[in-house]
Amino acid sequence: MNIIVCKSYDEMSLRAAQMVAAQMKEKPCSVIGLATGSTPEGLYRQLVNMYKSGEISFKGVTTINLDEYYPIAPANDQSYRYFMDHHLFDHLDIDKANTHVPDGTAADPAAEARRYEERITDLGGIDLQILGIGRNGHVGFNEPAQRLMLDTHITDLTKSTIEANSRFFASPNDVPRQALTMGIGSIFKARRIIIMASGANKKDAVRAMLERTVDTAFPATILNLHPNVTLICTADVLE
Ligand code: GLP
Repeated sequence: MNIIVCKSYDEMSLRAAQMVAAQMKEKPCSVIGLATGSTPEGLYRQLVNMYKSGEISFKGVTTINLDEYYPIAPANDQSYRYFMDHHLFDHLDIDKANTHVPDGTAADPAAEARRYEERITDLGGIDLQILGIGRNGHVGFNEPAQRLMLDTHITDLTKSTIEANSRFFASPNDVPRQALTMGIGSIFKARRIIIMASGANKKDAVRAMLERTVDTAFPATILNLHPNVTLICTADVLE
């Protein structure tokens, strides 16, 4: 795993944006896997700035997001579709038809998960995947478990994740109890992965990942098996 340690959240965001921009310049029709959460917000601000200054164009780009709450409507301001539109897609020249987020309104979530996995395969895999990391080591919504699922699936959220994510909702009771998420195998279809982490509350999860073991109790540790992963983090994560 390559590690880039940054002095600040802004520097972390800029370094990640520069890597995404380099990928897009090398391959204008790139498939970029995206994440939500507070960690990549700065990255998305940087990408919008780069687009507005004419440095990059998203015309040929396809995006595919890691996950979405279930059930949730896209118009709900806590949905990941809303987050992506609001923070990124609405400010770019991207064709919205080429932006993919699991459908949190699907009547049959298992069928939606299968459709989503097929979409990733049909796109030829992901060129560059952006990941955040949950405090408990989850990636996407692959929560600590004895067995990790390979493909996109519907999953129950853990108490720890519901609590962590309740900061965005009126109360913990409003956090959906389930989510549709890419599986570990879906994420591994990415040729390159950038995992971002900022803030002392990510210390345990990142420390576990850097132990160079694989432990399904910290799903991010499985990234140790992937040949092209870069961790971009702020210094406080490693203190
Ligand atoms: C969420 C998302 C993850 C994200 C993580 C960390 O639950 N499903 O994709 O990486 O939690 O979020 P944050 O960046 O806000 O700490």
